[in-house]
Amino acid sequence: MARILPILLMLILIGNSSVIESRNSVKAGSDTYQGLNCRKHSAILTEFGGKGDGVTLNTKAFQSAIDKLKTLANDGGAQLVVPPGKWLTGSFNLVSHFTLYIHKDAVILGSPNESDWPLIDPLPSYGRGRDSNGPRFRSLIFGTNLTDVVVTGGNGTIDGQGATWWSKFKAGSLKNTRPYLIEILNSDQIQISNLVLVNSPSWNVHPVYCSNVIIERLTIRAPVTSPNTDGINPDSCSNVRIVDNFIVSGDDCISVKSGWDQYGIKYNKPSEHIVIRRLTCISPDSAAIALGSEMSGGIQDIRVEETVAINTQSAIRIKTGIGRGGFVKDIFVKGMNLNTMKYVFWMTGNYGSHPDNGFDPKSIPVIKGVNYRDVVAVNVNQTANLAGIDGDVFSNICLSNVKVGLSQTPNKIQWNCTNIQGVSSDVTPPPCELLSGKGPTGCDFPAKALPIDGVKLQTCNVALPLLL
Ligand SMILES: *[C@@H]1O[C@H](CO)[C@@H](O)[C@H](O)[C@H]1NC(C)=O
Ligand SMILES: *[C@@H]1O[C@H](CO)[C@@H](O)[C@H](O)[C@H]1NC(C)=O
Ligand SMILES: *[C@@H]1O[C@H](CO)[C@@H](O)[C@H](O)[C@H]1NC(C)=O
Ligand SMILES: *[C@@H]1O[C@H](CO)[C@@H](O)[C@H](O)[C@H]1NC(C)=O
Ligand SMILES: *[C@@H]1O[C@H](CO)[C@@H](O)[C@H](O)[C@H]1NC(C)=O
Repeated sequence: MARILPILLMLILIGNSSVIESRNSVKAGSDTYQGLNCRKHSAILTEFGGKGDGVTLNTKAFQSAIDKLKTLANDGGAQLVVPPGKWLTGSFNLVSHFTLYIHKDAVILGSPNESDWPLIDPLPSYGRGRDSNGPRFRSLIFGTNLTDVVVTGGNGTIDGQGATWWSKFKAGSLKNTRPYLIEILNSDQIQISNLVLVNSPSWNVHPVYCSNVIIERLTIRAPVTSPNTDGINPDSCSNVRIVDNFIVSGDDCISVKSGWDQYGIKYNKPSEHIVIRRLTCISPDSAAIALGSEMSGGIQDIRVEETVAINTQSAIRIKTGIGRGGFVKDIFVKGMNLNTMKYVFWMTGNYGSHPDNGFDPKSIPVIKGVNYRDVVAVNVNQTANLAGIDGDVFSNICLSNVKVGLSQTPNKIQWNCTNIQGVSSDVTPPPCELLSGKGPTGCDFPAKALPIDGVKLQTCNVALPLLL
């Protein structure tokens, strides 16, 4: 025993020193992350007067850092590192050829003070703010007319501190539309990845009028009772890849949109060529993926694979109505694993909620070509609630290889179908008459991947000199 003890001690010491060594190497060294483009220049928020004490307002530090780094856009671009700490801030504005990197121990806190959020005009494709007729609070992290922007980190956190906004919204005491956490407008080559987004005042991630967008590895959390805390809402965007996201929220986990009634019809910019893969969703009062309700610029070529939803109202929901115009077509869904749902399939042709009375009652939406295959669900109350519009049949619906297991309190009517047309193959419980025509054993899914799906990210370095 006496001889073994020193050896044990030595082993413990060696163990300890190797831990210290590896800590040292993190201190002196760097982290890596995956980026659309790496940057030549790097700065840290504290160099611009930032204070991570959770109390000091850092809006000016963020904005002056970003404005300074903008001058390097044409010299290899720059990244701004948000180091460990709690960084209270109001809304700030991004620039092109820029990366915002949020360290794993950093938390950006959205200010609860309305004065820290400038007001901006409603979106032209919406005609008004969603919460009110007036302007909108600019999102916490905002950008417009940009190229090549990355918001990422080591899964650092952005906390919207939404509770005060939710209670004001519920009390009807807000004059303007609530802000989002991240909104990027009218931009190309956008990446939002490896972040934890919590308690947004309203929607979490809103790319609008954008192309070539990558949204990956986000964890998004808000209380399931919080109002309109949608996870990811691509809106009039094309070529979008949304993969490996985990979302728990009070509204749709993902909602694909394209403008509202007459404003969206006039703006005429569809959401198209979007791949959504490996979404995990919990949303008891909303959909895993909604298409609409704002869809007046059209939604087409949406590919959804490997969805997991738990305790969610419905899997994929098409939301539309008279006055919305536009279309939802070429929707391809393959592989859904669902547990505890009110509905699996849901199409709503009488969704209300118009921006104003100026909508055209003759503007009816075209819903066509909706393909679902390889679906397994358990603990379901009603398999399908599929309602088209009188005189506007939702057509070319295809269902194949669908197995729905019912709850202990299932609805007597499992398929509630009106004004729809389609085919099916190997579906249990057996579908309604309107879908009982024999379909292919596998409903359509495009064989050729979208170009955005093949875009490779680079491994970039981020130096952490101030983390000693
Ligand atoms: C909000 O910010 C404004 C402007 O900085 C300030 O005058 C006001 O006192 C702040 N309100 C609260 C509740 O802190
Ligand atoms: C962004 O570009 C559009 C035209 O595409 C222009 O109308 C708008 O003023 C620009 N906005 C800013 C902030 O530069
Ligand atoms: C960040 O989260 C993703 C899941 O979204 C995970 O795969 C990855 O390992 C995490 N990275 C770090 C540095 O913790
Ligand atoms: C299914 O119906 C029962 C009885 O109405 C209800 O208590 C339960 O919440 C429903 N489940 C879902 C997931 O909607
Ligand atoms: C069927 O759907 C319609 C809406 O289209 C609804 O009014 C009705 O209550 C539903 N019936 C059942 C049994 O679910």
